[in-house]
Amino acid sequence: MMALKNNRPHFPHTKGRQLDPKALDEIQQLLGSGSRKRDMLIEYLHLIQDAYGHISASHLAALASDMKFSQAEVYEVASFYAHFDVVKEGDTRPPALTVRVCEGISCEMNGARELASSLKEALGDGVRVQPVPCIGACDTAPAVAVGQNRIGLASLENISQAVVDEAIRTTLPAYIDFSSYDGYVAYKECLSGQKSRENVLGEIETSGLRGLGGAGFPVSRKWRFLLANSRPKIIAVNADEGEPGTFKDRHCLETNPHKVLEGALIAAWVIEAGAIYIYLRDEYPHIRAILEEEIAKIEQAGLSEGVKIHLRRGAGAYVCGEETALLESLEGNRGLPRNRPPFPANEGLFGLPTLINNVESLYFVAEIVTRGAEWYSQAGRPHFYSVSGHVREPGVKLAPAGISVNELIEKHAGGMTDGHTFTGYLPGGASGGILPASKGGLAMDFGTLEEYGCFVGSSAVVILSDKDDIRDVVKNLTAFFKEESCGQCTPCRAGCEKLSLMLESGDWDDDLIRGLSDAMREASICGLGQAASNPVISALNFFRGEVS
Ligand SMILES: Cc1cc2nc3c(=O)[nH]c(=O)nc-3n(C[C@H](O)[C@H](O)[C@H](O)COP(=O)(O)O)c2cc1C
Ligand code: SF4
Repeated sequence: MMALKNNRPHFPHTKGRQLDPKALDEIQQLLGSGSRKRDMLIEYLHLIQDAYGHISASHLAALASDMKFSQAEVYEVASFYAHFDVVKEGDTRPPALTVRVCEGISCEMNGARELASSLKEALGDGVRVQPVPCIGACDTAPAVAVGQNRIGLASLENISQAVVDEAIRTTLPAYIDFSSYDGYVAYKECLSGQKSRENVLGEIETSGLRGLGGAGFPVSRKWRFLLANSRPKIIAVNADEGEPGTFKDRHCLETNPHKVLEGALIAAWVIEAGAIYIYLRDEYPHIRAILEEEIAKIEQAGLSEGVKIHLRRGAGAYVCGEETALLESLEGNRGLPRNRPPFPANEGLFGLPTLINNVESLYFVAEIVTRGAEWYSQAGRPHFYSVSGHVREPGVKLAPAGISVNELIEKHAGGMTDGHTFTGYLPGGASGGILPASKGGLAMDFGTLEEYGCFVGSSAVVILSDKDDIRDVVKNLTAFFKEESCGQCTPCRAGCEKLSLMLESGDWDDDLIRGLSDAMREASICGLGQAASNPVISALNFFRGEVS
């Protein structure tokens, strides 16, 4: 990711650049009568990137002028996000087609590097082959995304069949649309008065539903904070899903988008919010198409009366999944996490009290309000696990909270891949640490893995085998955090950098690493810096013989 950081390309003409009338005309045509408010800035940068394949200096200056911002401000935002190709005068534009090869941990374990080099060779200079962080397709590792942000099948004519096949694979899946969704019954009961706010809150409280975005905060408790606030309120649906190994939100939205939308509408009704902002990761363009279509249908049906649903695109920055960075991004800024307090429940999006919930949390809200708290607790508080790595049947698995990885592998994922022996696992994506196979019987739930320095987070379970080198796994995960650190605070920025250098040099000095890790954990503003050393600390704790 590009950020505050000093490794940014120098861009000398951000201030006081002459306005090119042609560029201004093009920008005004592109933006049309759309709002010129600040929160639309990232959406408009996407429009330019999509239309021209890059963002030129003259378009950037024209956008700044049209939106009445300084050029430096617009440049600062555009250059923060990996999905914008900001090109200064005289620099080469990127090729018309980009093939993104995922270098997330599951993909790297399944030959992503080799795939990237063979694609580079096969496609030549006319196509950009770009290694990128996890694209949320770990079940099909090694995964690639074809096209700038969308799949451009027309432009694929001259390139290899394998690439075309990949592109087709990621087009619109079959999903339950509005006409076949057997739902909104619970929501209609809320609107008609058959259910009271207290009924709904009570059901969610009794069910024990905890936030499934990573932190596991009790859903009902968060809603009560918001309900107690009498100011106008907003809901932000966190669909950023950037944690390497996680693809369960994609599954919820691909298969049953209305369950998520119903959950969000129920939340809006309970806390009395007038707007819902869905922040969707840019790597899921097919889901954007689904949501655009299905939101229009519920609006037409009058179901969302009094609640405006906004769909916004992320732009390739993992940190924007952190809830306060997400708010900044929704406001059209760089995704720099905020200091707390104030907490979003008091002062969130546009300064208003904001409820932030993960996609899957809202999916289960709809399930619980429809089927009852008793059903949910009796079923063992089920939720989705993203399972990838060396198992026969990777994918999204519905299983009770507290299932062990042994059971998940054997009962849900078809056992280990042939020729692989289970040696360890990531219970919660890149952030959640690494556990050895000897701890494969532990219950994976909120609070059960912390004593081992790990956590279940968003339940992204990556299975390692005797064919993986734990040092490579740790290096991959640490490099990810280094790339994605927003650079705002020194312990994280410098700590990630230093940690990566030490690991790459082979100098795995136990004391030095642990000292650095403590400083990062204690002094970083957000969860990224606090968790970035988890992989290496786990390796030192549980795989000492393999890393010394
Ligand atoms: C670096 C970082 C990245 C995060 N990424 C996501 C994400 O992609 N999706 C998500 O729902 N939560 C993510 N979270 C957690 C959110 O900050 C927040 O806890 C969550 O969206 C709240 O929703 P929930 O209570 O329904 O889980 C992330 C946290 C951190 C520190
Ligand atoms: S901990 Fe890292 S990602 Fe989080 S605010 Fe600080 S520098 Fe940014």
